[in-house]
Amino acid sequence: MRESLILGIETSCDETAAAIVRNGGEILSNIVNSQIDIHQQFGGVVPEVASRKHIENIAGVVHRAFSEAQLAYSAIDAVAVTNRPGLVGALLVGVSFAKAFAYALEKPLIAVNHLHGHIYANFLEHKDIEFPAICLVVSGGHSSLLLMSNQNKMEVLGETRDDAAGEAFDKVARFLGLGYPGGPAIQEAATKGKAGQLQLPRVFLDRNDFEFSFSGLKTAAMNQWNKLQRRGQANVYDMAAEFQAALVEVLVEKSIKAAARYQVRTIMMAGGVAANQELRNLMLKKTNEAGLKLFYPSLNLCTDNAAMIAANAHYHYGNRSFAPLSLNAYPSLLSL
Ligand code: KG4
Ligand code: ZN
Repeated sequence: MRESLILGIETSCDETAAAIVRNGGEILSNIVNSQIDIHQQFGGVVPEVASRKHIENIAGVVHRAFSEAQLAYSAIDAVAVTNRPGLVGALLVGVSFAKAFAYALEKPLIAVNHLHGHIYANFLEHKDIEFPAICLVVSGGHSSLLLMSNQNKMEVLGETRDDAAGEAFDKVARFLGLGYPGGPAIQEAATKGKAGQLQLPRVFLDRNDFEFSFSGLKTAAMNQWNKLQRRGQANVYDMAAEFQAALVEVLVEKSIKAAARYQVRTIMMAGGVAANQELRNLMLKKTNEAGLKLFYPSLNLCTDNAAMIAANAHYHYGNRSFAPLSLNAYPSLLSL
């Protein structure tokens, strides 16, 4: 693989991020400017506000990435940017900035799929991942189980039919008045409660496939919450614990089943929901019991960042797979 020093840029949602990574594995700088404080007031991400904040922050964030890496702009070999999927107005800020930067420096431009970036966060830290592997990608916008036969070849085994796992966390947290982002809020509330005090469904657990559905779980949680409130028996901590347990159990069981079905010895996790402590604990327990190897990124590399974008771009760089300056941004995945 060719040596590379790549600037990654990520603006697909509410984090303005830039990072410089050497050879897809050595992080020289990793700057994440989060807008959480701003969107918290609205209970979720407001797309236009996100785009406007990216516009204000992007140049400063990129500059910091260079100064922390102690590099001149001209030292990099390529500029990589997330161009799908995500909020299109937010993506366009990163894409436009990356194009101008690449053009001015006369360096190649590389387009990165955000979900590939999440998966590659694993390769930034773990050099001993063996293939084939099952990869559980769970973020605010997507939830899929993939079969990876090597680092670049992946087949979708199943996906969510409706809400993404992170989306369900966010919606239920908002409904329960726990705030935004919902994943960390529910995780925190759950530590003070007990799963099993009330019952929520393990949706699709008994099905013989790798599809997910989280919208029904969300509705069941909301209905039970309303009922318990009418009876004066609502305990937000127990609700958070049971909701988290119901969602995590399905993610873990389906991942283990997929490993058995495809005779795979490795499971990887990726995306913001992979930061969930209950998910990490249960997956570790079940993979240990099954004799499987488990990999997941450190907490700060699970949620959105640009180091994972630069890591994925290293492989495009090796293949000379460059994007034209007419590169556009797309809200949807198109294909994995
Ligand atoms: O990957 P990510 O940062 O952005 C997207 O690509 O969507 O994921 C964000 C999602 C949000 O829905 C957030 O609530 C969830 O990841 N999340 C968590 C945790 N930390 C972030 N969900 C459960 N537990 C967490 N600790
Ligand atoms: Zn993400």
